[in-house]
Amino acid sequence: MQLITGISELVTNATSASTSAVHGTDEANASTHPTTEVGQLNVITDAAIIIDGERVAWSGPAAEADATLAHLGAGSAGTTASANVETTDLGGKAVIPGFVDSHNHLIFAGDRSAEFAARMAGEKYSAGGIATTVAATRAATDEELEANLVHLLDQATRQGTTTFEIKTGYGLTLDDEIRALNIINRHTEESTLIAAHVVPPEFKENPEAYVDLVIDEIIPAAAGQAKWIDVFCEKGAFDEDQTRRIVEAGKAAGMKPRLHANQLTDGGALKLGAELGCISVDHATFASDEDLAALAAAGTIVTLLPGVEFSTRQPYPDARRYLAAGVTLAIASDCNPGSCFTNSLPFCIALAVRDMHFTVDQAVWAATAGGALALQRTDVGHLGAGARADLVVLDAPSYRHLSYRPGVHLVERVVAGGEFVADNRPRL
Ligand code: NIG
Ligand code: FE
Repeated sequence: MQLITGISELVTNATSASTSAVHGTDEANASTHPTTEVGQLNVITDAAIIIDGERVAWSGPAAEADATLAHLGAGSAGTTASANVETTDLGGKAVIPGFVDSHNHLIFAGDRSAEFAARMAGEKYSAGGIATTVAATRAATDEELEANLVHLLDQATRQGTTTFEIKTGYGLTLDDEIRALNIINRHTEESTLIAAHVVPPEFKENPEAYVDLVIDEIIPAAAGQAKWIDVFCEKGAFDEDQTRRIVEAGKAAGMKPRLHANQLTDGGALKLGAELGCISVDHATFASDEDLAALAAAGTIVTLLPGVEFSTRQPYPDARRYLAAGVTLAIASDCNPGSCFTNSLPFCIALAVRDMHFTVDQAVWAATAGGALALQRTDVGHLGAGARADLVVLDAPSYRHLSYRPGVHLVERVVAGGEFVADNRPRL
């Protein structure tokens, strides 16, 4: 058992019943749901956490920790029976659940920094840039692709991300999409097939033949290997009819649907996402009141990607309008070499608060519990009893510093599955 104490503020995202549910079985606790109301962080001040293996056994007020340890059979931290309790005293730091980054494109090769610089000098972002990365990715070896992935995962872990969704989408041939999926599956269970990212250059004259290839060959080959099916439904990528066919084929092959929707234009992709039963529609930079009503009615999560608006100079959607319509919001990074090359959720939270008008509480919730809902995960995004012990120690007394101190490295230590996996403290 581990006891983490000296927590000035503990963001649990959990109901008080679930943080103290120490009497249930592991099985019962494992199904504990995070709160589903946006912004309900449920912050405990002067708190402690008890971790048993990979799971949170209990989280609550520090004053109750000793009695709880005794109850759990590990003895009190202050007695000789504490030999089997490893204690870490944080000395007054905030702790939050590890970030759940539900939207990433991390399997690629090449560099598009010149495209970014041109954009900052006035060029417009278009889906066409994806082809540059496709050429570099196809030319890369498996080892190169995996090394780049591991490097990006490591960077993100050191910034507090403990759950990653990862998409294919820069291979766009049967072999290249499947090899991307194989690499992804070595690093996360949240793998997404987005063979329908753009129509690759060799199918430029006959896009329908590429849609057929996706449906008839790539999806069947990916069945059982991809948890999610995704399509970039947008002008210059795939239209609504093609998207519908591809998503239906993915669903028939056992994949769960999510979409890139209304990133560049105010099309029908969001409504289509609601109709197709997507678990999440992502980007939603442009959304009509009708779109939002349809998404709220369908219970589809909307995942906003503030780094994309930042890196493409597109208008930021206003979270207040989405929330007022009854939509549940997640925040993710969309880390990719084109539209947004950040894998820092602290940065995305700061942007979401400043430029999308999330409250600080809503933004922290959306990047943790919101991401978990967008991936249909009940074991992450919260720190109630039974949750995976994925947490971030901030070099700050309050979680609010995540947006109050933008650009500052506030992630001090990261625990994933009960183990310290990153330590950014200076070595003096
Ligand atoms: O989510 N929009 C489609 N895909 C990525 C961008 C990919 C790229 O530009 O390479 C996105 O923004
Ligand atoms: Fe994306």
